[in-house]
Amino acid sequence: MLRQPLLMLARSDKVKKAVTAMPVSSGIVHRYVPGESTESAVDATRELIESGLHVTLDFLGEDTFDREQADATVAAYLDLLRSLTENGLSRNAEVSVKLSAVGQALPDQGEKVALDNARSICQAARNAGTTVTLDMEDHTTTDSTLGILRELRKDFPETGAVLQAYLHRTEADCRDLAYEGSRVRLCKGAYNEPESVAFQDKHEVDKAYVRALKVLMAGQGYPMIASHDPRMIDIAGALATRNGRAQGSYEYQMLYGIRPDEQRRLAEAGEKMRVYLPYGQEWYGYLMRRLAERPSNLTFFLHSLVSK
Ligand code: FDA
Repeated sequence: MLRQPLLMLARSDKVKKAVTAMPVSSGIVHRYVPGESTESAVDATRELIESGLHVTLDFLGEDTFDREQADATVAAYLDLLRSLTENGLSRNAEVSVKLSAVGQALPDQGEKVALDNARSICQAARNAGTTVTLDMEDHTTTDSTLGILRELRKDFPETGAVLQAYLHRTEADCRDLAYEGSRVRLCKGAYNEPESVAFQDKHEVDKAYVRALKVLMAGQGYPMIASHDPRMIDIAGALATRNGRAQGSYEYQMLYGIRPDEQRRLAEAGEKMRVYLPYGQEWYGYLMRRLAERPSNLTFFLHSLVSK
């Protein structure tokens, strides 16, 4: 019941200003976002890698309407990739990028700016011996993001994509992207989408996730199973067996701070397990989407605001 209002608040500048003006450096924010600086992100990455996990890092920010801010985001990724390399972490850590943070939404030539910026990040990632995965945002950006992905993959075929099971189109997108060398992260989807494009009911979304997963696991690409749902994880394991996939020919992924014991259990069972680690000051939209997935966290969040 609270999911929709929380997702609407995720896009509200007024509420964002009010919330982020308060010092919420501990409590619920900290559970999902380990820090604001490159240094804190690298420290958290080291800790995860030392415990047998892989990492993908997201410099928080989205919906940039300002060219300078888009350039600053690119600079932050380049700095991060340099630091991961210097610390010997780049073999086990890649980066995730939201195209809206690097210019996709700019009124003038946004797609071109985003493509050029994403190229710079892909080149830096390749120099660091690692990869980039493009996050997927709301459905109005899906075609544009997949178009930019196609362009990027001409020079950087290792670039990964995210597909969201709740969208009606996703099973077909999975078929298009299940080719050799193609890395696809399958998630359920975290935005407030209309009925015309997305399943609304949780069971429908779960069924759609399984259908999409079947396509990816039977295909020639590299599936990245991004879910905390125990049923999806079990089904992925069964599909790996059915399709004769060895461990390491697919991977599991979860968000930082969610089911950390399960993350370690999968890694200890020999599975490749990657943690999505967001960092930076622009945590508001990300946090609101996490609260929408688990409204019971709202009480902790409100408590951390008033107890500061
Ligand atoms: P579901 O929501 O059914 O949750 C299953 C169980 O997981 C819950 O019962 C609970 O135990 C636990 N859980 C889930 N969310 C929790 C939370 N916030 N706090 C505490 N426990 C929680 N989305 C998107 O639209 N675009 C994207 O690019 C990405 N990228 C992405 C990358 C990675 C690596 C992951 C894991 C997820 C994303 N997502 C995303 C988010 C995704 O779409 C989805 O909203 C969340 O993963 C929650 O869905 P689950 O599959 O975990 O199932």
